[in-house]
Amino acid sequence: MPRFKAAWLLLFGCTVLEAYRSSMSLNWCAEQPVCDYRRPHVRIEQPGFRRRIRGRMTLADDGGDKPQPSPLQEVSSRACRDSSMDRRTLLLPALFFACSSSLLRPLEALAQPPRTVMWPPFAPTSGYSRDGPPWGRKFRAPTGTGTGEQGVRRAVSDLVSKDYKTAGALLRLAFHDAISRDTESGEGGANGSILWELGRQENYGLYGAVDVLEPIHSMGGLSWADTIAVAGSQAVTSSGGPYIQVQLGREDAKVPDPQNLTRPVGKCDEALVAGGGRDCRGVAEKTIPGAGLNSDGLRNFFGRFGFSDEEVVALMGGHTIGRFSSLLGVPKECLRNLGDRWLECLPLGERLPFTKDPDSFTNSYYKYLLLWYDRSITPGDAHFLPSDVVIVVDDAFRRHVQAFADDEKLFFRTFEKAYTRLVSIGA
Ligand code: HEM
Repeated sequence: MPRFKAAWLLLFGCTVLEAYRSSMSLNWCAEQPVCDYRRPHVRIEQPGFRRRIRGRMTLADDGGDKPQPSPLQEVSSRACRDSSMDRRTLLLPALFFACSSSLLRPLEALAQPPRTVMWPPFAPTSGYSRDGPPWGRKFRAPTGTGTGEQGVRRAVSDLVSKDYKTAGALLRLAFHDAISRDTESGEGGANGSILWELGRQENYGLYGAVDVLEPIHSMGGLSWADTIAVAGSQAVTSSGGPYIQVQLGREDAKVPDPQNLTRPVGKCDEALVAGGGRDCRGVAEKTIPGAGLNSDGLRNFFGRFGFSDEEVVALMGGHTIGRFSSLLGVPKECLRNLGDRWLECLPLGERLPFTKDPDSFTNSYYKYLLLWYDRSITPGDAHFLPSDVVIVVDDAFRRHVQAFADDEKLFFRTFEKAYTRLVSIGA
């Protein structure tokens, strides 16, 4: 409240000062070049505008060299004369406008909480419609004709060659579309349901991937589920990874997949109770894995689909490409209001690559994990999530990390097997 009072006082002061200054020197009309048609060289800064005005200038019929005003200029000059006469009547509203916009806005901003940014930039998470993806009608059903799988591959390859960052987004899209299955109820899988789930917190940022895929899907004539599975595979190939054959024929879901598992997998560890809490990092509760899962959590989560330890480690190698949103560079105002709305701050932060070379599908992810484990990594060479380092801390997982770091071909072969299993979930 005191801030508002100060704002009004300042506004009043500004009005008085401005009124005094204006009554002494107000002559804005004469300063407008378009008013002064009597001068032979009309000076107008914008080139397009200058051409328009010059074209309209005509010489007087009596042979004089005084250019006549064009209709446009006549209107302008009349407006100038009128407004010169009426300037006192215009003074108050003009001053009020000038003062309120220049002074009040920053003051109001001080009095109000900082503005939040809408993220993700699309429809809110709640209230899914059963009539189609919630944010629009542009997502069409497959036509049955089109360029087919090879066309989709060519288009994705073209896309990735123009912007390598899309590869990570497309692979993550394929992972999130396929993995969101509740094995208990038998719902979900690689079924294109991600189109319904983009508003979920765990899928933030994936709207962009769907957006770039939309024209490719329309052109390809495959179902959304097939398009996403093929695009993920091609994203890997185009980044230098293996070629992964994708079986077609997935049907598109008409509803979102479940977000939570009917029954959480795993148990909280009572033995590790600290300060009255329980360690529940081994429990998977959602259909998309959380970054806080420990090695048991990863096994519990992926084990439901029959993935072996080796395949889990290979799949995690998806983080050899791409980036994640960090809080680095997020303005303080946003950080102060993190709370439940932390997602809104993320787009303002820096995107950090998982590894130093985030656009090439190689085994460098495993090499950096081992360096991290040995405490000999150079700061900045890799940025890992807690669930990344889990696979090098756990002895059984680390065996495979070492094997993939030593043999890139082995990593490629295992990733191929694991990806094929991934995009077959529920199909
Ligand atoms: C426990 C398992 C996993 C967790 C917790 C996890 C979590 C994440 C998170 C938090 C991001 C950053 C998203 C962002 O800020 O935009 C990310 C990015 C990514 N994830 Fe995962 N992920 C997991 C497994 C996987 C798997 C198995 C794959 C692929 C097979 C994968 C592929 C990717 C890719 C490619 C990106 C980069 C996206 C981009 O550059 O836009 N992730 N992941």
